[in-house]
Amino acid sequence: MNLPPLKLGKKTAEIPIIQGGMGVGISWEKLAGAVAKEGAVGVVSAVGTGYRHPNLVKRDKFGRPIGSVYTHSKEALTKIIQDAKRISQGRGLIGVNILCAITDYGRVARDAVEAGTDLIISGAGLPMRLPEYVEGADVALIPIVSSARAMNLICRTWEKRYKRLPDAVVLEGPKSGGHQGFKYEECFMEEYQLENLFPSVLEEAKRWGGIPVIVAGGVWSYKDILFYIKQGAAGVQMATRFIATHECDAPLIYKEVVLNAEEEDIILLKSPVGYPLRVIRTPFVERLMAGYNGWNGCVSHCITPCNKGEEAKKVGFCIADRLGAAWLGNYEEGIFISGANGHLLKKQGIISVKELLEMLTGKRPDPTVESLTVSA
Ligand SMILES: Cc1cc2nc3c(=O)[nH]c(=O)nc-3n(C[C@H](O)[C@H](O)[C@H](O)COP(=O)(O)O)c2cc1C
Repeated sequence: MNLPPLKLGKKTAEIPIIQGGMGVGISWEKLAGAVAKEGAVGVVSAVGTGYRHPNLVKRDKFGRPIGSVYTHSKEALTKIIQDAKRISQGRGLIGVNILCAITDYGRVARDAVEAGTDLIISGAGLPMRLPEYVEGADVALIPIVSSARAMNLICRTWEKRYKRLPDAVVLEGPKSGGHQGFKYEECFMEEYQLENLFPSVLEEAKRWGGIPVIVAGGVWSYKDILFYIKQGAAGVQMATRFIATHECDAPLIYKEVVLNAEEEDIILLKSPVGYPLRVIRTPFVERLMAGYNGWNGCVSHCITPCNKGEEAKKVGFCIADRLGAAWLGNYEEGIFISGANGHLLKKQGIISVKELLEMLTGKRPDPTVESLTVSA
């Protein structure tokens, strides 16, 4: 079966697959541009962009961008979006992922619009004020939700305050990489698994005139994509699979860490953002679990819930520093993120985005799937 195109606001992508935003630096111009070039939706991450273009920002002696203005740098994000568009050769769509929790959220949303993004995807909190920051711009707005209740709250608020509704929502289940919109225990409960959350969110979307629902979190194969499309999903968002591509912006060591991970190495950690964070057990995580506190002062002021380092001190690490260290290829000190299915990537190795999208659209055999049931 040919997958249907994905309409997001006034724009359409030929392939209904969104490559999920991955911060810090796992999805920037090379990955997003390559995905869009094949006709899908490439998403750059707006967090920590100062790491990508260090020459454009002020840094401390360890190379960390200073303050949120340089950590989430406008100049660097603009360059990343423009480069992604150039690589895409005008095909597909280029979006930006902005964590609701980042300091300067509104400013970064405006930066993304000015730089010409086609869409904004926003989670780790509910983007209640997003329409206000992009007023009048031709940009699709796509909140990430983890329940019909959250979707209802966003729709009611946006309709009342801004007379607009989301152009789509991403429903993200608890097998995704990075932050989870659930409590720790909920991540393992049957009722919170993606396939069980999906019917109620689809119902809610119908009540608001048929807002497209995009599913994410453990969606892995063409078979999974068909499963959700046949039930009424407009598309899927996938991230972990894109790490094992040549074009992924992560350094080789990052890709190797994910490719070498076993299922039991992929765990949930407490994060200063306030949600469980899915990561791979690496030397720093082992030390943290043994009681080590690796917090090293707040330089970036990266996220508001951290309260300038207070939460980081409690959980034992600064999220910007540790994800920044991983982007810089520091295996000992970095934190490396993966979705719950990351251990399957070793069956595939590193391939091109084109090859991956051929697998995901049923045009090429997929060596990772024999043992996988739908959205396992
Ligand atoms: C390395 C990595 C980094 C991520 N960073 C972010 C992020 O900065 N913001 C966000 O909203 N989601 C982030 N995510 C979640 C993805 O965008 C995506 O929704 C999710 O991982 C989908 O599940 P999958 O990885 O099983 O395909 C990240 C995921 C990974 C694997």
